[in-house]
Amino acid sequence: MTTRREFLEQGAATIAALAVPALARAATPRFAELKARPARVQLAPPTYPKTEIWGYDGAMPGPELRMAQGARIQRSFLNELPQASSVHWHGIRIDNAMDGVPGLTQPAVEPGQGFDYDFVVPDAGTYWYHAHNRSTEQVARGLYGALIVEEPEAPDIDREEVLILDDWLLDPETAQIDPDFTSRHDRSHAGRRGNFIATNGRFDLSLDVKQNERLRLRLINAANARIFVLSIFGMEGWTVALDGMPLSEPKPVSEVLIIGPGQRADLIVDVTAASGETAHLVRVEDQEGVSQVAFPVSGRAAAARRGSPHPLPPNPRMDISGMEKAVTARLNMQGGAMGTLDAATLDGERKSFRQLVEANQFWSFNGTIGMTDTPLVSVPVGETIKLEIYNDTSFPHAMHLHGMHFREVTKDAALGPFRDTLLMFGGETRTIAFVADNPGKWLFHCHMLSHAASGMMTWLEVT
Ligand code: C2O
Ligand code: CU
Repeated sequence: MTTRREFLEQGAATIAALAVPALARAATPRFAELKARPARVQLAPPTYPKTEIWGYDGAMPGPELRMAQGARIQRSFLNELPQASSVHWHGIRIDNAMDGVPGLTQPAVEPGQGFDYDFVVPDAGTYWYHAHNRSTEQVARGLYGALIVEEPEAPDIDREEVLILDDWLLDPETAQIDPDFTSRHDRSHAGRRGNFIATNGRFDLSLDVKQNERLRLRLINAANARIFVLSIFGMEGWTVALDGMPLSEPKPVSEVLIIGPGQRADLIVDVTAASGETAHLVRVEDQEGVSQVAFPVSGRAAAARRGSPHPLPPNPRMDISGMEKAVTARLNMQGGAMGTLDAATLDGERKSFRQLVEANQFWSFNGTIGMTDTPLVSVPVGETIKLEIYNDTSFPHAMHLHGMHFREVTKDAALGPFRDTLLMFGGETRTIAFVADNPGKWLFHCHMLSHAASGMMTWLEVT
């Protein structure tokens, strides 16, 4: 007969045995590790306590991953968080199995478990990686980092800076992250917006520069929902890439630069401010400019400025052909506060808007809330897809397509720059087109993460 004590001991043995694979795995990861874990960092000014964040390798932002175009990334992700997670490599035209979407491309990685990410980066540019499970919470807690793929031939610059912009919702007394990640108000309005804005985790980031120095600024918007409206002061600049992809011609930064959640912009800037002055990356808020990053100038890098920069070299296989016979689909976005949605399908059932509010679900795509069993569009590999999107809501949305870049089809049937995230304002109808050349199941969702969590998510299939 088994005694209670033996049973307990057996139980303990079983648990120990269960724990072994994770421990053994941790001891011998296949690749270099990328470990998601809680950590404490000084985020608020030094008079405040440190903030508990979740970070890759305990850092915030996580380690910068930098490699040559065409190289292979191999990372053993290890989850030391109290909840399941996964890593998404935003903007990479990646092998679908490595895209990091739980329930679509892989199972969520449970605490103590790992997942080996192994893929090739085909395109040079500015990308980023972030958690893709319970993203509203996990990205807000700090689980992101820059992924930089270098051109085979570096552009003519003096130096470069990666600037990850984010806003944090902190308790004003304790400087701890507000743990209400499912707020009804945030979900039904503009998303979770922070009260503390930082760059690379620093509210007072200051980078010393010289007059006439030429910098490449790689801007990444990692915020849950904030749209950054930026301009430059004491510098002259050109946008040379958007969402990682080079523009065919550098575009002078004359007015403001709008970067929605998930989006990136690469600028080449020349410091025009004189020694002793300070140049700024300026954030525009309510018609006022505040410094996002300060660039104090001391000395001179060169006697004269260079001329306008050359475009960055284009990435491979980027044509959009077959527009005439494109498979077309339409996406109607509805919902949120002050919207037009009075009923939608949730988990296969028709619900009134009031019932949806009770379920804390607010946004529909073509009348359905959240993921459907069947994709929005399914095409064989190589087809061209044209997607007409109508934002029938009162809020902006940042629509992100996984696995492929698209171009906007403008009114005069011209094609805009390649992007992976489209920022759309209320009432707008916009059309995007892309060649579905990457097989797999690809998410298409709003990168205002509270919106994605309350309905704005669908997927496409390339077979
Ligand atoms: Cu940057 Cu689906 O995410
Ligand atoms: Cu949205």
